[in-house]
Amino acid sequence: MATEATEEHKRLANIIKSCHDSLRILTKQYGAEKAWQEHTKDTKRLQEYAEAMHQLANIWETNTTNQDLMARSRVKWTIEYCMAYFFSERIYLEKRLREQRLLESWEGFDCSQCQYLETLPEKIRVLDVGSCFNPFGKSQQQFEVTAIDLCPATEDVLKGDFLKIQVQSMPDEPKTVLDEHNEVCTLPASYYECVVFSLLLEYIPSSELRLQCCQKAYDLLKYEGILIIITPDSQHVGKNAAIMKNWRYSLGMLGFSRIRFEKLPHITCLAFRKASDPRVAQRWSQLHREPYMELTVDIPQDNKTFDD
Ligand SMILES: C[S@@+](CC[C@H](N)C(=O)[O-])C[C@H]1O[C@@H](n2cnc3c(N)ncnc32)[C@H](O)[C@@H]1O
Repeated sequence: MATEATEEHKRLANIIKSCHDSLRILTKQYGAEKAWQEHTKDTKRLQEYAEAMHQLANIWETNTTNQDLMARSRVKWTIEYCMAYFFSERIYLEKRLREQRLLESWEGFDCSQCQYLETLPEKIRVLDVGSCFNPFGKSQQQFEVTAIDLCPATEDVLKGDFLKIQVQSMPDEPKTVLDEHNEVCTLPASYYECVVFSLLLEYIPSSELRLQCCQKAYDLLKYEGILIIITPDSQHVGKNAAIMKNWRYSLGMLGFSRIRFEKLPHITCLAFRKASDPRVAQRWSQLHREPYMELTVDIPQDNKTFDD
């Protein structure tokens, strides 16, 4: 069967897994910030990871002739959701109306502080963080993609550590700024219609740093723009429910409303909208907060032990 893991698949998957494990072990020893510094110095390991990820994706992601694989494709899901949200179904307008109605129904709230997407550009501006091999680069008709990665696997991806990148308001001339090493150091605030974190958050070693990534995505997006998060999940839909609900709470507190949740085999696909007024999302979170919820972005792997 085409989807069965061969020895080569297993070898590549092991490279990925051992890189994640090594960073988690370093984090337990030294804390996330120091572990990150050490990890990002290991260019040999990062390059090996990038090549393995690219090869695995060639097997699983870009094989458009296999319908079974395409039904599981994170790239396909992301493109289709973006097209529906901005163009074919104009979901953003429907969500806008809903937010307006909600605000008006709350005593003391009004829509005067709401901010909306003005005219849509011809091409959606997408920032793909942790892009690796620029999977959205082929969609040039619909997307203008800025792809960044710690260690790019292909030449069309810019090098840059999202945790270190600054977000700056550049109303007159928004642009990607590179430093003297040709690495991305600054990105324009409120510029992108879509930010993608496809299998990114599981790489980031702590809840605090993941929350920082989400806050940065918020600052980079326009109002009514969307953050797409793809997260690996081979469990049944209820297994990680508490974690997923806590993500919804935390991102809500940042000003994001969760507008799509879809479980595919092996991954969960999520879309968060930068609400036209952050109070809509924040109020939702406050009303739905359960006692265990905190402002965290945990992942199941945080509890992994490495005793053996
Ligand atoms: C599991 S791969 C996912 C690649 C691709 N997005 C996909 O869905 O196939 C995670 C990628 O995130 C990158 N990455 C992790 N942390 C990053 C950071 N702080 N800044 C930029 N890229 C990062 C890694 O180098 C790696 O290529």
